[in-house]
Amino acid sequence: MGNVIDQTVREQMTWRRSASGTGSVWGEIQSSVLIVDGAPSSALLAAKLEQRGYRVWSAPPSEDLLAAVARGRPHVVVFGEGGDGTSVARAVRDLGEHSPLTLKIRDGRGADRAAAPAEKGVFNRICDLRPIGALCDAIGELIDGIEEEGPGARYGIIGRSPQIREAVSLVYRIAASKARVVLLEGESGTGKDLVARAIHSASARSVKPFMEINCAAIPENLVETELMGHERGAFTDAKAWKLGLFELADGGTVFLDEISGLRLDLQSKLLRLVETRGFKRVGGVEDLRVDARIIAATNRNLEEAVRQERFREDLYYRLKVIPVLLPPLRDLKEDIPLLASHFISGFNAEFGKGVSGVSEDAARFLCRYSWPGNVRELKNVIERAMILGDGDTILPRHLPVEVRSANAAAPTANSCVASFRLTRDGVNLEEFERGLIRQSLELTGGNQVKAAQLLGLGRDALRYRMKKHGLFDMFPRRSAGPGAGASAGRRALEV
Ligand SMILES: Nc1ncnc2c1ncn2[C@@H]1O[C@H](COP(=O)(O)OP(=O)(O)O)[C@@H](O)[C@H]1O
Ligand SMILES: [Mg+2]
Repeated sequence: MGNVIDQTVREQMTWRRSASGTGSVWGEIQSSVLIVDGAPSSALLAAKLEQRGYRVWSAPPSEDLLAAVARGRPHVVVFGEGGDGTSVARAVRDLGEHSPLTLKIRDGRGADRAAAPAEKGVFNRICDLRPIGALCDAIGELIDGIEEEGPGARYGIIGRSPQIREAVSLVYRIAASKARVVLLEGESGTGKDLVARAIHSASARSVKPFMEINCAAIPENLVETELMGHERGAFTDAKAWKLGLFELADGGTVFLDEISGLRLDLQSKLLRLVETRGFKRVGGVEDLRVDARIIAATNRNLEEAVRQERFREDLYYRLKVIPVLLPPLRDLKEDIPLLASHFISGFNAEFGKGVSGVSEDAARFLCRYSWPGNVRELKNVIERAMILGDGDTILPRHLPVEVRSANAAAPTANSCVASFRLTRDGVNLEEFERGLIRQSLELTGGNQVKAAQLLGLGRDALRYRMKKHGLFDMFPRRSAGPGAGASAGRRALEV
C-alpha cells in the first residue's frame, strides 16, 4: 500500500511544466485562469490564453462557482457582464487570503456604466473585450503581480531565490499528491509552520481541519491522548471519551511540530498509523482508521537522534520519503529585501504607519547579518524598527545592535565580541546585552542552561537578565512543567 502511494508521489514530483508553456509558472505549476461561462467570446479568450501557456477552464456562473474555485484554485477568475457576476465575484474575493484575483470584461453592449464604481471595489481589474490581445495582457499582468513576491506568495511564503522556488514547487507538488507523510527540516524561524499550512491550504484537504501539536511542548503523559484520544474510564480522570487530533483531522492534515520530542513508544504507534492508517484510542480495544496527511517538522538533526537511539530508525526513513529542507535566511540573502518590504507593508497596515522602506545603510546591515533566528528574527527586527522609528524610512539606528554590529564577514559566536568595534554611532550597552542574551537563547533553542554556558553565566544570572530585558515571553521554558496546558501547543486552523 505504502509503495503504491510513494510511486504516485514520485511521479508527481518528476512532473514538469509542459514544453509549450510560456506563461508565468508557480514553481513548476502552470498559472491557471477560470473563465465564468457566459463571459463574452469565452472560447476565443480561452484559446488565446492557452497559447500563452496558461491552464484555462470554465464553470457556470452559479453558487457552484465557489466550489469550482476551491477545487481548482485558479489564479485569476474572469467574469462577463450581467447576471449576478458582482455578487459572485464578491464571494470569490471573500474566500480568504488565498482567493484568486478577479477580472471583469466589459463588452459595451447594454452595459450599465453607473454601476462601475461599485464594481471597482469588487473586481481587481475591469477591461474591455477588444482588443483581445490587450485583455490577455491584463490577465498576464494580474498573474505576474501575484508572482512579484515569489511563487509562494499566495500562501504567505515570500521569496524568489532558487531555494525558495524549489521549496514552493515542492509544496505545490506535495499538496497535489497523495503523499501521506512529509518531513519539514529547517532551523527555527525558517518557515516550517508556514509551509505546513501552505501544503494543507493548497491541497484538496483544505476543506477539512488542520490540527497542530508541538510534541516537545506538551507534557509527555498527555501527548498520546492528544494524538489518539481516549475511551471513557481509560484513566482516573477520563470521565468521558475524547477524540484525538488524528480523528479530528480525518480527511485533513495533522502537523507534528518538533517530532524529535515524541516518546519512543509513541513513535511506534505513529509508524503503525502511517503505514496502516490504524490506531487505538487510549484504553480502547477497537482498531480505528483515519485518513490524515501527517506533516512532521524538526529543527534538530533527526539523524543524530537516530544514532543516539532516541528516534526510531524505521520511522525516520518512513518520514524522510518526502523531505522538504527549508534553508536558513543567511543562505537567502537575495530574498532579504523582498521579505523586509513584505513585513513593512504588513506592519504599515497593522500600525497605521506609512514607512516606505529601508535606508541604504540599514539595508546593508540587514544583508550582512547572519540571522541566527532566521525569518522570524527579521520580522521581529522590522517590527521593532517600525515601532521605534518615526520617519518614513528605517535607519541603522532603528536596528538592534547585533544587526548593526554585523560586519562584512559575518562574525561567529566566538569572534563576535572581539571583532566588535565601537563607532561614532555609539552603542546602547543594555541593548547589546539584550542582543547577546537573545542570540544565546536562539542558538540553543531556548535551553537556558546551555545559553548560560555560552555566555559564561550561571543559570540564575541568565534568568535575572532575561527578566530584566523582558525575554521570558519570547523564550518560554522548554521543559513542559505541570502548568503547561495540553491545549497550549495545539490549534485548529479554521477552514
Ligand atoms: N518565506 C517566508 N516568507 C514570509 N514569511 C516567512 C517566511 N518564512 C518564515 N516566515 C515568517 O517567519 C515567522 C516564523 O516562521 P515559522 O513558520 O513559525 O518558522 P518555524 O516553524 O520554522 O520556526 C512567521 O511569522 C512566518 O510567517
Ligand atoms: Mg514552528
